[in-house]
Amino acid sequence: MFYEPHKKNHGLAKNPFNSLIIPRPIGWISSIDTTGVFNLAPYSFFNAVCYQPPTVMFSAGVGAGSDGMKDSQRNIETSGEFVCNLATWETRDQMNQTSASLPPEYDEIELAGLTTLPSLLVKTPRIAEAPVHLECRYLKSIDIPCWEEAGKYVMILGEVIGVHIRDDLITVDGLIDVAKMRPIGRLGYSDYTRVDGETIFALKRPE
Ligand SMILES: Cc1cc2nc3c(=O)[nH]c(=O)nc-3n(C[C@H](O)[C@H](O)[C@H](O)COP(=O)(O)O)c2cc1C
Repeated sequence: MFYEPHKKNHGLAKNPFNSLIIPRPIGWISSIDTTGVFNLAPYSFFNAVCYQPPTVMFSAGVGAGSDGMKDSQRNIETSGEFVCNLATWETRDQMNQTSASLPPEYDEIELAGLTTLPSLLVKTPRIAEAPVHLECRYLKSIDIPCWEEAGKYVMILGEVIGVHIRDDLITVDGLIDVAKMRPIGRLGYSDYTRVDGETIFALKRPE
């Protein structure tokens, strides 16, 4: 089959786009507003961009606020910082729960049974239950041109200025034990995948 996204002529039960670019890592983004109120939400239009400086991005769609922004975007653009927490098999339900839009009077961290830890280089706390945290300095936002207002996304870029790795996830050889870490990735629909000892394989690059 062939379809042109802007014509919405795929004819399938659901938009297949996010079932084709898979698995996508999940940036479990913590941020704070101007008064220090903490916010946490998962973003799977998320990835590493480059090594130097280590840079990450995520894309936020239209939010429920009167400014049309999701809380994460607004918080990051005003505070100038954020933290990416690694979502793993152990925290999958909590991660999912933090995608709910809750009024500010609800403490979503407490509701999800999570706890926070202070960061070292940014004011935004990190999630204690996540084994890896990337402390980020906000770099810039890029508006993605879109054919309809309701579908607009903004790409947010951040420089990773500090990295926390849980000590038991570092092997005696100085490598990251990803099989033990068990990160999860997003597929399409309601589906996810898990990286573990069964699913990792190695390929040597040709000379
Ligand atoms: C696994 C997962 C991935 C998500 N990825 C995105 C995404 O890439 N972009 C987006 O705008 N919303 C995404 N969402 C929805 C947001 O998490 C949700 O809108 C959340 O309420 C935003 O919170 P905020 O307003 O506190 O930033 C995702 C939800 C889940 C469960």
